[in-house]
Amino acid sequence: MNYPAWDVPYLGSGWMIGIVAIIHILISHFAVGGGIFLPLTEAKALREGRKDWMLRLKGYSKFFLVLTGVFGAMTGVGIWFAIGLASPNGTSALIHNFVFGWAIEWVFFLVELTLAMVYYYTWDRIPAKLHLTIGWIYAAVSWGTLVIINGILTFKLTPGPEWMASVGTGRESEYFFDAFFNAGYLPSLGLRTLACLSLAGIWSLYFFSRLDGESDGKTKASMVQWSSMFLIPSFLLMPVFFAWYVFTIPADHRALLELGISSASAGTFTHVTRMTILSVVSSATIALAVMFFAWFQPTELKRGHALSILFLALLATGSTESVREFLRKPFVVNGYMYSNGVRVNQIEGFNRDGYLTGSVWSPVSPDAAFHHKSVGERMFQGQCMACHTLDGYRPIRKLLAGRDTTSIGSVLKMLHDNAPESPYRKFMPPLVGTEEEIRALRDWLAVQVAPASH
Ligand code: HEC
Repeated sequence: MNYPAWDVPYLGSGWMIGIVAIIHILISHFAVGGGIFLPLTEAKALREGRKDWMLRLKGYSKFFLVLTGVFGAMTGVGIWFAIGLASPNGTSALIHNFVFGWAIEWVFFLVELTLAMVYYYTWDRIPAKLHLTIGWIYAAVSWGTLVIINGILTFKLTPGPEWMASVGTGRESEYFFDAFFNAGYLPSLGLRTLACLSLAGIWSLYFFSRLDGESDGKTKASMVQWSSMFLIPSFLLMPVFFAWYVFTIPADHRALLELGISSASAGTFTHVTRMTILSVVSSATIALAVMFFAWFQPTELKRGHALSILFLALLATGSTESVREFLRKPFVVNGYMYSNGVRVNQIEGFNRDGYLTGSVWSPVSPDAAFHHKSVGERMFQGQCMACHTLDGYRPIRKLLAGRDTTSIGSVLKMLHDNAPESPYRKFMPPLVGTEEEIRALRDWLAVQVAPASH
């Protein structure tokens, strides 16, 4: 353990990342999709001489600026706080491998935010054509932020053979482009771009739902229907890109998805199955809701309808990202680093020399009893807490309930041996450490699980 552990009771640190990330994705994808929506809509309004549209668009761009510039940026920084605390080793690996990727990304953010402000403040102040050009440059830069982050996100599941071969040589970052343009890069870029357009449509529906259907009926109808159209590309092309994406997932991880899907009929719903079903059902419901509430009755679209559609989008985003995250289990970077920060090439050393040996955060108390207990707790914090809590999410007390010390010992032995046929291999990292450390973990767990302890 080279970093302190972040203990988030009940919820677990993973969910902390999840909550911040889902909100961020909903807004950041709008920052990209809205960037395309704005100049496209402005160009149409200019071409058709629609003054009513121009007037609304100005208000829209303020809404856009505040939502993306304040809430999008804030939750983006929030993700850094959350992943830095929950997964310091993984965060460090991503920073070291993609230093210049991050640098470019932050330059793009700066330009993006600046342009969003310029775009809003120059309405009616500069020639219409120039204003539109600024909108298009914003769109390009904003999509550029996706082009970059997408390489780093997809790397985690498909780091690729070239980069993997460089692991441990100290020259990993020389394989930047192999790592960046990995197998999942293009299909994922397609999927995310489509999601951006859909979210632009959905947020726009929310914005234009506030127009008065009676006094402003014509404007409302045309803008609501125009916004609805931004969902069409997704529903035509998502399945294609999704199939392509699934095809790039490494076979053993894809098996997790297939296991989930094929076991659904047998009644055993795995997490992946549940989330896949939720993702498909919520997406389909969005399509129906947009069709009936927005396309067919555009003047009748109420804020409540639009908010419900936004909520469905939250469900669809959350469940899809959760499937994507789960498919990578038990790794944070597939084949290289486990979710608890242990690197594959460290296992041997940890088993021989000890997991906590040389760790800055291990206890140094000379008191044997205290030391023994603390070793167990540190083992839990370092190796299990990335995915388990004591009593809340994936509660270790419940999962081990009814087991005595011996029985817990045999579970830990299975985790430690990590035999090819062990069912745990699919979702849990191997337990590492010396025999003494593992015994300490066993004893600590036994005390936690014992009925008298709570
Ligand atoms: C990469 C995430 C991850 C890590 C790290 C992890 N686990 Fe798990 N663990 C899981 C998942 C996922 C399940 C399945 C949970 C469920 O069925 O609800 C699970 C289930 C379990 C179970 C129940 C197994 C069964 O047969 O029902 C036990 C016991 C357990 N984990 C112990 C541990 C211990 C001890 C550690 C630390 C040494 C650990 N886990 C680390 C993800 C993880």
